[in-house]
Amino acid sequence: MQNFYYSIPTKVQFGKGAIEMLPSFVSQCKCGIKAMLIYGGGSIKKSGLYDKVVSLLDENGIEHIELSGVEPNPRLSTVKRGLELLKDFDADALIPIGGGSVIDCAKAIAAGYYYDGDPWDFTRDSSLITNALPIIAVLTLAATGSEMDGDAVITNEDIPDKRDIMSEFIYPAYSILDPEYTYSVSPYQTACGTFDMFNHVLEVYFNGVPDTYFDDRMMEGIMKTIVHFGPIAVKAPENYDARANLMWAGSWAINGFIACGKAADWECHGMEHQLSAFYDITHGLGLAILTPHWLKRISCEKTLDTFVNFGKNVFDIRDGSDEEIAKKSIDAVRDFITSMNLPLTLRDAGITDEKNFRLMAEASVGECQNHIVPLSVDDIVEIYRAAM
Ligand code: NZQ
Ligand code: ZN
Repeated sequence: MQNFYYSIPTKVQFGKGAIEMLPSFVSQCKCGIKAMLIYGGGSIKKSGLYDKVVSLLDENGIEHIELSGVEPNPRLSTVKRGLELLKDFDADALIPIGGGSVIDCAKAIAAGYYYDGDPWDFTRDSSLITNALPIIAVLTLAATGSEMDGDAVITNEDIPDKRDIMSEFIYPAYSILDPEYTYSVSPYQTACGTFDMFNHVLEVYFNGVPDTYFDDRMMEGIMKTIVHFGPIAVKAPENYDARANLMWAGSWAINGFIACGKAADWECHGMEHQLSAFYDITHGLGLAILTPHWLKRISCEKTLDTFVNFGKNVFDIRDGSDEEIAKKSIDAVRDFITSMNLPLTLRDAGITDEKNFRLMAEASVGECQNHIVPLSVDDIVEIYRAAM
């Protein structure tokens, strides 16, 4: 186990009616009375959450402006639009209401507020972030874990490229997690979000850092939870237990806890971010398509023990030699994906040409070196091709 420092500043209010805490959280942010609401394409208006938030803010005398239309795979231009709005309105807090895209956009705005240059600079040098506006995240989609981490993923549509911004300053100060607000998430987005959180654990589980018995058992518990409840939520969107367990598992998949002592590159995410940068596909779908091929590529003597634990402890596979259990565990991941009605090929996701694969591989190879099975550009191209 490696040395580590662990600290999370985010305070979480979880459960039915959690939104009632919003005004009190706003007032605790620098005694604030001004906030900027940030949301996406309108799901919060359909669900009634928008009206609820606005009435809570109005009743408590909290002045607010709005940035709407944040896209899935949030664009740098939208971050800049938010910063323009803030020029005339000194908000004390940002309130993103939505999934990971909305929260990530808020994080980039929160940091950009205290920076004179282009917020894209943060993707190459996070030390440029020296402060950020407080964020109160209201989560409506269980997936990315952005509600409890210090990461924001932004797409620069002009290049195109999609990169992480990581900083201790951009953790939400508060996160409001009411599983009922995820009832309206479509089966497709539920499946994509479920697979995203599953992959967040998988990336850490298979990174090869040895002697992490405690972390490994915790991860198996989170993955079992996700594999159990994902298909239930896809079929029964208003099953509270499924939504609640997925929501909490999604936060814990990436809030740093399971990675304590176990840090290394996230290869699948590196490869997927280029897929969504070039083809604008849903992040969780890209991961679902790549993951079985990536697992096959990293399956070797060095990872065999981990595969055996994975097969036995996550999927209850008991029969066969170690090599057979490893192979069956990859089949089980595939079955998990199809049980949520997600496709298994890039072609099914609308990607019909290979022309960008080498460029994408060159852009992601830097994120595939610090791993027990490092990947070359050729390896990555092969994985994209196999996924066709
Ligand atoms: O825009 P609206 O109308 O809100 O609709 C959204 C969007 O179309 C919809 N949705 C969200 N909540 C809903 C809902 N529809 C009905 N009812 C609700 N309650 O779902 C669609 C997708 O939303 P999005 O926020 O894009 O999904 P997700 O949460 O999966 O976020 C994906 C983004 O997060 C990044 C991804 O790369 C991607 O850009 N990631 C962020 C991470 C982080 N900050 O730590 C880590 C992840 O690995 C990931 O890379
Ligand atoms: Zn992810």
